[in-house]
Amino acid sequence: MLLGPERRLVVRYAKRLRPDGLVVLTAGNLSVRSGDLVAITPGSFDYDELTPERICVIGLDGSVAEAPLAPSSEVPMHLGVYDAVPEACAVVHTHAPFASALSTVVDELPALHYLIAELGGPVRVAPYATFGSNELAENVARALEGRTAALLGNHGTIAFGETLEQAYSRTLLLEWLSALYLRSSLLGAPRLLAGEEIELVARKLSRKGAPAGSSPPSGSAPRARAPGRARPRARAAAPRRRESPR
Ligand code: 13P
Repeated sequence: MLLGPERRLVVRYAKRLRPDGLVVLTAGNLSVRSGDLVAITPGSFDYDELTPERICVIGLDGSVAEAPLAPSSEVPMHLGVYDAVPEACAVVHTHAPFASALSTVVDELPALHYLIAELGGPVRVAPYATFGSNELAENVARALEGRTAALLGNHGTIAFGETLEQAYSRTLLLEWLSALYLRSSLLGAPRLLAGEEIELVARKLSRKGAPAGSSPPSGSAPRARAPGRARPRARAAAPRRRESPR
């Protein structure tokens, strides 16, 4: 079986999506990249029934290497992230409720809390496009420029990381920040932090390590480059932290 450890990792986190309140039913998808192969959840499949054998393995060009079921409809979006961010080794897409609510009314989640530095600063909302479309993949790659997460307009969230644990933690953080924004906005206009402060925090986080309970430091973490720029050919040699399946 190709990518056995990565498939097990995908299953472990996929089964957390519903209990963590990040999706309903079969919504959302996860992937882990290893070299030129990607382990990704199958489309519209009940997470309770998911096993490593049912995870799909595809190439970075979208070709199917081993897939007992149809891969997620969001393959273009996942591959778009791997193309834009050479160091990305995991992508998480959810329909987290607070983030999804916010994605229907704002163009950006502003810097109302210092922890947004973990996501690279204010989080953009990628313009709406039909799920699974190349247009959505392009909008998302653009929204991720210089960031590690984005909101998908009238849809949900996306986050990437050097590990699946990091991508998942960023997703939880994005949902928490979205809830915070919603709640503070009910009380009045939230005071926002300046860009310089967010940069300072990002540097501090990268020096000291992540706050307790959050993902590894990422102030200097890889962020998405502008879409359309040539992908560095050194991609295979890019620094990667492997996550050992537990
Ligand atoms: P898949 O079930 O095809 O992965 O799609 C779910 C989803 O969230 C679409 O955006």
